[in-house]
This record gives sequence, structure tokens and C-alpha cells, in this order.
Amino acid sequence: MEFDSNNSPIIRLPAPHTNIIITPPRYSDGEAVISMLSDPRVYMNLAGPPYPYAQKEWDEWFPIIQKGSHDALLEWREAEKSRKDGGYEKRWVKGAPVIAIRDVDPVNREQKLIGIIGVTRMDFMIKAASDENKRRQEVNEALDAGDPGIVWELGFYLAPSHHGRGIMPATIRALIHDFMIPYMNAHIITGSYFQHNAGSRKVFEKNGFVFEGVIPDCFELPESKTGVKGKKASVGFMRWTRSP
Ligand SMILES: CC(C)(COP(=O)(O)OP(=O)(O)OC[C@H]1O[C@@H](n2cnc3c(N)ncnc32)[C@H](O)[C@@H]1OP(=O)(O)O)[C@@H](O)C(=O)NCCC(=O)NCCS
Repeated sequence: MEFDSNNSPIIRLPAPHTNIIITPPRYSDGEAVISMLSDPRVYMNLAGPPYPYAQKEWDEWFPIIQKGSHDALLEWREAEKSRKDGGYEKRWVKGAPVIAIRDVDPVNREQKLIGIIGVTRMDFMIKAASDENKRRQEVNEALDAGDPGIVWELGFYLAPSHHGRGIMPATIRALIHDFMIPYMNAHIITGSYFQHNAGSRKVFEKNGFVFEGVIPDCFELPESKTGVKGKKASVGFMRWTRSP
């Protein structure tokens, strides 16, 4: 991780994507996020964000992601300080401070938000809102930062202008190897995708995630997206396990 002139963290992708950086979110990202989440090439592939997505939704979500990023950075600084002070025990961070994917113009250095990548503890609800999954969620939430048993989950999207260039696989690789392994002690990372979204499955596979299976028709798509009530999607599940 490097820091910019405002002492804000940056993960920079390696070649051939050295113009792509991952940073904390900014309130001014709202316009680009609303535009991405209003495009069917994006929102039809996402289970999470509401649709339609407008300024109100951004204003509700931004403080949550800003706090997550801010808290993670504070923890990272404390962990680094303790390490430099010769702290015996390694301290772990409970989340990632960088989630906003930006394309930096090589000439004027202007940054354009082109996507989001989120890391959360898996809540198991997409599989089914069963008592057993609620229990698994509680167990996962209760684990201490750095516990190798934490089941992490990745969620991500990219602006259609940047699809098909290998940016998301490289972003995931950098986040896992530059942050999640060294600072969060991640051992288990999962992801899910709608079965029709072959590109997303490939993104996971390019990072060594293994296909676990598909649960048919387990997710009801909102009527606001499909125009009909009760349309269901099958969801595929992928899992990455850190090699010893
Ligand atoms: C899915 C997504 C993350 C892929 O990221 P990316 O940076 O474009 O990934 P890649 O460039 O490696 O492309 C992955 C594969 O999907 C294919 N692909 C990418 N964009 C595509 C598109 N719009 N239509 C059809 N295929 C596409 C690519 O050809 C590639 O296959 P290949 O490796 O055989 O060439 C990105 O397209 C996206 O954000 N889509 C909308 C939101 C979404 O689906 N999020 C994931 C939810 S789980």
C-alpha cells in the first residue's frame, strides 16, 4: 500500500494496469456510482444495491462505507505502529480501507471512478434465510479480526466502459495479496454470481477461486428491475482458500 500527498491510502495495480488505483470512497463519487448502478449491464448482475439508485440511496450508503474505510485505516495504522515498535503479537485489521476503483489520466492525473469492490464477512443469506444460515452468520460475525476461520465475501462492479480489459481480475488479485492476506489474515474468501453472468465467474476463476455449485432459483429479482413479480435467478458460488 502507498499513500498520496493527503496521506490517503492507495493500492496501485501492476502492469498493464498501472493507471488503475484503489482508494477510499469519496462523497463526490456519488454521480459515477449512480450512473453505474442505473445501467442494466451493471444492476442486472447485482443482488445487493437497491434499484432505482439515486442521490438518496448514495447519501444513505456513503456514511457507512466511509466509516468502514476510515476505521480500517485507523486499525492499519495502529497495527503498523505496533509492528514498528517491536510488538510481539501481530495485530490484524478487520476490513479494507480501499474500495473505490479509479482510472488515472496519464496526462492530467485526473481520477475517474470506474468501479467498486467491497469486502464483507459473508452473511450466508443469499443461500437461504434459514435458522442454520443465521447461526452461521452470527458465528462468522463473532470471530476476532485475523481469525483464519472468517469467511470473507467479495462484491464488485465496473463501469461498462471498462469491461473486458482484465481490470477486475487484477483488482481482486491486488486486494487479496496486497491487503487481505498481509493485514487481514484472510484464509477463506467467497463470491457469488448470477448463473447468467459468465464474465463474473471467470473473474473469480482467474484468481484461483473454485466453483462450489449453483443453487437454482434461490434469489428473487426485484420487480423494479424486471418489471414482473417473482422472477428468480440461480446463483453460483465460488470459494478461494489460501494455500498453506
Ligand atoms: C463481471 C465484471 C466484474 C468482469 O470484470 P472485467 O474487468 O470486465 O473482467 P475481464 O475483462 O477479465 O472479463 C471477464 C470475462 O468476461 C467477459 N466479459 C467482460 N465483460 C463482458 C461483457 N460486458 N459482456 C460479455 N462478456 C464480457 C470477458 O470476455 C472475459 O472473458 P475472457 O477472459 O474469456 O475474455 C464486469 O464485467 C462487471 O462489472 N459487470 C457488471 C457487474 C457485475 O457483473 N458484477 C459482478 C457481480 S458477481
